Amino acid sequence: MTTNLTVRVGDLELRSPVIPASGVWPYAEDFWGGEKLEGIGALCTKAISLEPRAGNGGVRIWETPSGVLNSIGLQNCGVREFAACYAELVKNCPVPVIANVVMERPAETRETLRILSEVEGIAAAELNISCPNADGDGMAWGVCCEQAAVAVRAAREAWNGRLWVKLTPQSADIAAVARAVEAEGADAIVCANTWLGMAMDMTVGKPAFGRVVAGLSGPAVFPLALRAVWQVCGAVKIPVVGCGGVSNASDCAAMLLAGASAVEVGSAFFADVKAGASICEGLPEFVKRYGASELLELTGRARIS
Ligand SMILES: Cc1cc2nc3c(=O)[nH]c(=O)nc-3n(C[C@H](O)[C@H](O)[C@H](O)COP(=O)(O)O)c2cc1C
Repeated sequence: MTTNLTVRVGDLELRSPVIPASGVWPYAEDFWGGEKLEGIGALCTKAISLEPRAGNGGVRIWETPSGVLNSIGLQNCGVREFAACYAELVKNCPVPVIANVVMERPAETRETLRILSEVEGIAAAELNISCPNADGDGMAWGVCCEQAAVAVRAAREAWNGRLWVKLTPQSADIAAVARAVEAEGADAIVCANTWLGMAMDMTVGKPAFGRVVAGLSGPAVFPLALRAVWQVCGAVKIPVVGCGGVSNASDCAAMLLAGASAVEVGSAFFADVKAGASICEGLPEFVKRYGASELLELTGRARIS
């Protein structure tokens, strides 16, 4: 008997819990259909901003023994080119497409979302509030409740569809930020983005990245992300999508047990383009082990004492 791996993030049904996280899935046509989507429940786009962004210069990726540092700098073609070039890919994609949107100044983000609302087939917008507030002190929108609320309010004004909000783990109280985001009408929370780290290039004795700090992801952050997911799931009623360091079925099941409805997977796809399929292959064993009859029964199971 095959195990049902269907999960639900609110009213959005996914055939599997694995969503490639923003920034890792190419726009190439063969990645948006066919066997490459085996084990994939939904696709998340690379960041989309109002105007095109060239991204950061210099080193952009740095491997560490248990994860990867990146400083891509939100490189993307801008929402107008996205709408012009990728509308067909989105429309024909056999799994739901989540559009990751850069939180810029409120007016810019509203315009990005307005343009996206004309693209057919976007299942949800994912507002990335990890980016710096250009009008504020440069701190990420998501580090405090007040700023996070302003961001979500602005997005809500322009976007009637499902709104997911991707938090930054750099907040001192991620559960409080999650509550603020929920209060402004978010439909789901993605918990969370990368963690600030740095690398020293020991060949030259200088920081590896031009901006010195970069975002850490991969297995190194899994216990941190799992803790954040546990805290956020205890703080809000809206669904939570776990994200950070998930690289196998056990990690995915742990996120679900902590209360996540699905998981986003980033760095693991660099090591194995079929990570989605291999995670799904291992999930039935956990469903069986915990006496459940289908995967969605695992969500929050570790919370019930
Ligand atoms: C190369 C790279 C590019 C990324 N680009 C984005 C992005 O554009 N928007 C975003 O919200 N997160 C971005 N992220 C963060 C991932 O979506 C994810 O939140 C993070 O990598 C943690 O998951 P992981 O440990 O499974 O990789 C990027 C990560 C990497 C490694």
